[in-house]
Amino acid sequence: MNYDKLNKENLPMIGYGTWKLKNKEETIEIVKNAILNGYTLIDTAQAYANLEYVGKGIKASKIERNKLIISGKLWNADKESKESIVNACKKTIEDLNCGYLDLYLIHWPASKAVHKDWIEINAKTWEALEYLYEIGLVKAIGVCNFKKNQLEELLKTAKIKPLVNQIEFHIGFRQLETVEYCKKEGILVEAWSPLGSGKMLKVEELKEMALKYNVSVAQLCIRFCIQNGVIPLPKSKDNERQKNNIDVFDFEISKEDMKILNEFPYVGGSGLDSETITIFN
Ligand code: A2P
Repeated sequence: MNYDKLNKENLPMIGYGTWKLKNKEETIEIVKNAILNGYTLIDTAQAYANLEYVGKGIKASKIERNKLIISGKLWNADKESKESIVNACKKTIEDLNCGYLDLYLIHWPASKAVHKDWIEINAKTWEALEYLYEIGLVKAIGVCNFKKNQLEELLKTAKIKPLVNQIEFHIGFRQLETVEYCKKEGILVEAWSPLGSGKMLKVEELKEMALKYNVSVAQLCIRFCIQNGVIPLPKSKDNERQKNNIDVFDFEISKEDMKILNEFPYVGGSGLDSETITIFN
């Protein structure tokens, strides 16, 4: 095989999320800035409908391709067959114009609420991702939004373990059962919406705690993920906020405050549950 492996050791501690960026000229500058501001893991998805301009932003940064980890996701509508999955992966690479993907993820598991044969669908989809890995089109494979029991089923037939499981994770919604299971199985957890899509930034208790550390609430939220061993993927269009979100390595949340945050009441969750969801399947 003529490709390097992507593994836990070479994934950065923070990535940049591209959900909600538009497939328009303005995205070029935003993504370019993110890379110049130091983000090396760029999280993308076909479903974000912006790959062309995200790819142009990556190119505009002039960074060498092998200095970046570009992650893509397989959308539900493309799961039909091995062929459709291979084509979807190729299309993502083509749209991003990035040569290959470092990481390719199943965006959502088949929902129990819609598919009686969800276990089989997930197993077959994973088998196709394993094939993409074997032929070297992608350097590593993983999943998103899988809960503990969905992962348990997947691991019964998987030849390769997912490198990552990307889930909604922030102070107000921690999905402890899934996170603990991933840790036990050696699957890295990535956090989408680590700021609760911005909702965490308005929580008074968090504002007070952030003030104590002389950091922004966003930095507190991002550092919270890192100290829990989770890779946050914050999104920001703004140059200064992009810098702020990655500047989280010269303070540490105390053990006592981590306890408070790890017991924080539910707030700001998206409500998207991959076992009951019907809208994407
Ligand atoms: P903007 O793009 O204008 O910066 P999440 O990553 O949890 O989905 O949150 C993304 C939201 O949080 C976006 O609305 C983004 O707005 C906002 N945001 C990201 N970083 C910061 C920050 N450092 N301070 C304030 N708002 C932020």
